[in-house]
Order: sequence, then structure tokens, then C-alpha cells
Amino acid sequence: MIMLINGQSKLNGHIEVSTSKNAVLPILAASLLSDEPKIINNIPLIDDVDIIVQLIRELGIKVSYHNKSLKLIGNAHKVDPPYELVRKIRASFLIMGPLLARHGIVRISFPGGCAIGNRPIDLHLKGLEVLGAQIKQTGGDIIAKGKLNGSHVYLDFPSVGATENLIMAASLAKGVTYIENAALEPEIVDLADFINSMGGKITGAGTNIIKIEGVEKLTGSTYTPIPDRIEAGTFMVAAAASRGEVTITNVIPEHLKAISAKLIESGAEVTEKADQINVRGPNKIKPVYIKTLPYPGFPTDMQAQFMAYLSCAEGSSIITESVFENRFMHVPELCRLGANIKIEGRTAIIKGVNKLDGAIVKATDLRAGAALCIAALMARGETTITESEHIDRGYERIVDKLNTLGVDIRQI
Ligand code: UD1
Repeated sequence: MIMLINGQSKLNGHIEVSTSKNAVLPILAASLLSDEPKIINNIPLIDDVDIIVQLIRELGIKVSYHNKSLKLIGNAHKVDPPYELVRKIRASFLIMGPLLARHGIVRISFPGGCAIGNRPIDLHLKGLEVLGAQIKQTGGDIIAKGKLNGSHVYLDFPSVGATENLIMAASLAKGVTYIENAALEPEIVDLADFINSMGGKITGAGTNIIKIEGVEKLTGSTYTPIPDRIEAGTFMVAAAASRGEVTITNVIPEHLKAISAKLIESGAEVTEKADQINVRGPNKIKPVYIKTLPYPGFPTDMQAQFMAYLSCAEGSSIITESVFENRFMHVPELCRLGANIKIEGRTAIIKGVNKLDGAIVKATDLRAGAALCIAALMARGETTITESEHIDRGYERIVDKLNTLGVDIRQI
């Protein structure tokens, strides 16, 4: 698919943020922990959610969709999800913890997802081993089996996915588990809240030590996950980059502190209310220094979008990517639009230019695609983004939402 954007229109108006992709994916995986009915509300219609739903259906769960809610009923009667689905998204690996905890065995191929560096799963596997799983690798698959017992797991890095997999596995393990150096992301808190709504006993989510008391059985639940802080952040940056003014509703401003702080530093005006944020773009974009870090630091998922924005700053900005090894695939594409960016190891030096010019560019991954949309908004003339289906993996109705804000954008 291609996306066509005519640049230099100021974004103006109001949009509502959809539910968080990164909260919904683990919550859908956690629904495998119980066979009673679960209803998950405000499901975002994005490709990654579609894939995880297909995967869960493939395992034998009945999934129905009505009025933006998903209803999931039944027990998995398969523990070996098909490779063709698993390889499509990295989050498919999140079904490992619940399947193992529930059925004592799981067979899964190495996960796929965005090509943002080598993304190992050693921390997930080491943690599950500490809980008593025996893990074997054969022909590209991982087989984990065994009865799980509560234990102390120390993560070498606060990995979001490993923390989530271990919370889910430990929820049905025998005894108490402590995850130390756990990830602090709001999506972890949401997952714990969802499992607790099914009768789980998790405390400390959102801190770096999470305590999980294993229970024998989890029940059904009706749950509404949190709004998407990365979608909100992307629209905040888009508003500032276009020098427009946008009110973004259905947000939790607390989750957006790092993004708001950097936008304010760059000269934008950011005003917070209970569940909305207003952003007004600056006359001149000031250069800023950014280092991506685990939450509550600056999110790696916003790095590419900020780089697009800063490519038109008055002066040089520096962005250091400390979470992923190789997450600068958007740089050559931004340079095709006229940006001046040099990479030295994990650092990008962005020398602000006066103008960008529309061109044909390629979305190499989800957030890189979002960054190209932002650059296209600032560029003169038309930009064509090829492989724009990457963007649909994580942004619900992005073309409609940008249209509402006054952008001339089409996807074919
Ligand atoms: C999640 C998010 C992703 C976000 C990332 C970091 C979802 C579905 N995806 O991805 O959008 O960019 O958090 O905020 O929620 N690592 C290891 N070994 C492991 C696991 C991770 O070395 O076993 C490394 C990774 O290679 C990476 C870093 O740890 O360098 C962070 O990864 P992690 O926090 O696990 O990210 P994901 O859960 O994959």
C-alpha cells in the first residue's frame, strides 16, 4: 500500500486516541489464562490486534466482535500456534507464558515483528526456567514444558515483553514469584490490573519489584484497557511539526510526561487537562537532546517521530537510542526528504534544515512510517510513502484522523 501526503498544511482541531496496542496485545494473550468469558472493550482495529486474534482463534478459543468489544470464551486445545502467524508479530511470543502456565507445555517458533535490531528472547526464557520450565530449541521452535513454581526472577534488563510473559506465567504458578528489575511501563500495570480483575493476586506493578501470588484458577472479566500513549505522542509531535494546534482527548497525561517535556523544550506549547492535552506548534523549533530509556524515560517508540520533527529545528539536535541496537532505519528515508542526519553508533546528529521536499520514501517499520508521515507534513509538495501497511499495524484509522485535522492524505 502507498500513502500520499500533501505537505505544509497546519493540523487543527481535535482527535480522540484509540486504545493502546501494547496494552491490548498482552491482555489478549492473558485471556488464555482462564476459559470463562472475557470481554475486552474499545478494541483498536489495527493489524497487530487482528493477527493476535487470529492466533488465539487458531488455538481453539471462540472470539466474537461486537460494538468495539471482543468476547473470548473457551479453552485452548492446541499449544503449538502456526509459524505463519507467529512470525508476523513479536508480541505473539506473549502467549508462551499463559499456555505454559495453563497446559504445562507450549511449542512456538521464534517471533517476528518490526525489524528494529536483533531482538532476543533470552530474558523470557531464563525467567521461565527459574519458574521451573524445561526449555528446548529444535528446528526454529522453542518447546517449554513443566509445572511452574513461584520463585525470584531477576531481569538483567527491564524488558517489557519478558516482564509480561513472567507475570502471566507466575499468575497460575504454585507459590509466590517476585520479578526484580521489572519493566515499569503503564502497559505492565494494565496487564496486572486485567489479571487481577480475573482473580489474580499481583501487587507492585509499575514499580521495579512485582509480587505475584499464584492462584489455582482465574475467572472471566470485563475490562477496558488504557489509551495509546504512543499514538497520542505521535499526534502531539505531528501537531507541533505542522505548526498547528490540536487537542488530543482520551489520554492519560501522566503517561506522556517525557514527550510533553521534550516538546516544551523545543518551543511548543503543551497544556494538560484531566484526560486531554492541547499542543500548539512553535514558530521556531529549538534543537533538543534526547536519549531513549525504559519508562518513565523517553520512549524508544517515539524516537523516529521526534527525529522527523527535529530535522527542521534551528540548530543541531542529538538523539541517542539506548533501548534497541538498530533503530535508525528511518534516517536514510528522512534524508531523501532533505533532512541532514548523521549516525555515529547509537547516536544520531540532526542538523536542522530550512525545508524538506516531498519525495518517494519507504516505511521500514511501524514507527519509522509514522515519522515519515510527520516529515511529509512539513515537506513542500507531495510525499509518497511506500509499504505504508506498516503504519496500519499500530495506528487505528490514521488517514481518517489526519484528514479530520485538515491534512490532504490518501492511502491506496
Ligand atoms: C515492547 C513494545 C515495543 C517497545 C519496547 C520497548 C509491545 C508489543 N512492544 O517490545 O513497542 O519498543 O517494548 O519499550 O509491547 N531484550 C533482550 N532479551 C529479551 C528481551 C528483550 O535482550 O529476552 C532487549 C531487546 O532486544 C531490546 C530491549 O531488551 O534491546 C527492550 O526490549 P523489550 O522491552 O523486551 O521490548 P518488547 O517487549 O519486545
